[in-house]
Amino acid sequence: MADYLNEIKKRRTFAIISHPDAGKTTLTEKLLLYGGAIQLAGTVKGKKNAKHVVSDWMEIEKQRGISVTSSVMQFHYHDYCINILDTPGHEDFSEDTYRTLMAADSAVMVIDASKGVEKQTRKLFKVCTLRNIPIFTFINKMDRDARSPFDLMEEIEHELGIKTYPINWPIGSGKEFKGVYDRSRKAILAFKGESGAREVEMTQVDLTDNGLDNLIGEDFHRTLVDDIELLDGAGDEFDLEQVRAGKLSPVFFGSALTNFGVEPFLEEFLNMTTSPLPRKADVGVIDPFDPNFSAFVFKIQANMNKAHRDRIAFMRICSGKFEKGMEVLHVQGDRKMKLSQPQQLMAQEREIIEEAYAGDIIGVFDPGVFSIGDTICAPGHKFQYSGIPTFAPEHFSRVRQMDTMKRKQFVKGISQIAQEGAIQIFQDLGGGMEEVIVGVVGSLQLDVLEYRLKNEYNVDIRLEGLPYQYIRWIENEGLDPKTLNLTSDTKRIQDLKGNFLLIFANEWSIRWAEEHNKGLVLSEFGGTREEY
Ligand code: G4P
Repeated sequence: MADYLNEIKKRRTFAIISHPDAGKTTLTEKLLLYGGAIQLAGTVKGKKNAKHVVSDWMEIEKQRGISVTSSVMQFHYHDYCINILDTPGHEDFSEDTYRTLMAADSAVMVIDASKGVEKQTRKLFKVCTLRNIPIFTFINKMDRDARSPFDLMEEIEHELGIKTYPINWPIGSGKEFKGVYDRSRKAILAFKGESGAREVEMTQVDLTDNGLDNLIGEDFHRTLVDDIELLDGAGDEFDLEQVRAGKLSPVFFGSALTNFGVEPFLEEFLNMTTSPLPRKADVGVIDPFDPNFSAFVFKIQANMNKAHRDRIAFMRICSGKFEKGMEVLHVQGDRKMKLSQPQQLMAQEREIIEEAYAGDIIGVFDPGVFSIGDTICAPGHKFQYSGIPTFAPEHFSRVRQMDTMKRKQFVKGISQIAQEGAIQIFQDLGGGMEEVIVGVVGSLQLDVLEYRLKNEYNVDIRLEGLPYQYIRWIENEGLDPKTLNLTSDTKRIQDLKGNFLLIFANEWSIRWAEEHNKGLVLSEFGGTREEY
């Protein structure tokens, strides 16, 4: 087999999603540890001790001790080459978090066993379902008191609308956590509670054997037998096809902090996932093993070096092999070019790369030509990948510039920042650019906007928070929004492309709009009705 085919086959590219504090960072660290990519846990993101290992680029990050940008970590495990896409989830939650999911082939959803499905889990999950990627569930913190595993599964199925299949099943939780029962191996992985232990003790068991009482106690033995009987009888069947179609989520119980259940999870995950998936393009589906290089831009990182005003465009390679110095075609710009300073993040370090393969993410120097969603391909093989949807902002502010003499800089600055995808700009119907409404997914982006306009464009602005929380794109072509019957706290706006939108203060007003305007079609993802 040609070398590049083998390289692509080895690749697994996934994102870890979770509500803040469920344990995403801890799980990522443990996975990197297994790959030998880092020596010590606690170095991925020192969010509390302001240690910026992965990304230390923007001034604002340093000031605030958080990481604003999402990054990618690559490591090797056995014969696999694994790319983990980091999805920022704390204050730095932003549209980039969603876009990152468009570059992943599967997702791992981390859930806190005492909390269950939380707000951001729901939002991120919804984005994953846009592309029907496989979703694996890691129910974390079993070393703490947890909710009933049946309740948790029921909640995932009910709230997220995906079927579940527990690969293993917990025996107790918190101080009484004994470990998990592996359903296919019919074995118990005993929890010893030592932090950092790499191997866990696995004991082959027969559930009917009385000797199990010695291992986990009589009560837990009885409960385990009942639970497994119930699962085998009434639970969903395991079906790999359904897993790969994103319809059935394999569920694992464990404790990332104490390193319990992480390696078995990783092994099963690698068994069940596939190498990079084909992607939709305007000429049909593109096979990752196609020898011709192609990629799409899913993120633009601005101003890593203020002196140069440079940007880095992150692209996901979708087919073939990338070689440093090769000539490529930037489809949207209709221009042949060389991608300069191609780099990759290997856990802690950014390094210049010589080659990369389908499934990999590379960052390239962007002199200001790329936009989010752009396709890069081999010259002579021109096509475009389906774009990236515009995700619904949840925070809205009116932006006023303080010094009207600097109008040109203001318009330039705000338009460029919007082009990078950090913010979305809207106008009142019929309004001009003197005063715009800015929408962001995470409120930190408003601070970033203010900071960047001041620092890079020398423009002072005043932000005035607006009480809207929901946005919907009007999908009906030719509909005049002025004719709509809406609640008084609903606002009609348009984006720079002239699309009409509505912003709402609450969900009740959305329902009102739908109920009182027959035929009105509202969409939560904007700009395009394509499939991704
Ligand atoms: P996040 O990236 O999803 O936001 O979560 P993160 O890994 O930062 O974990 C949030 C907190 O939960 C951390 O504690 C972490 O140590 C703890 N945690 C993660 N996994 C487990 C687990 O399996 N069991 C238990 N008991 N705790 C877990 P913290 O005190 O908030 O932060 P830190 O001071 O440890 O960094």
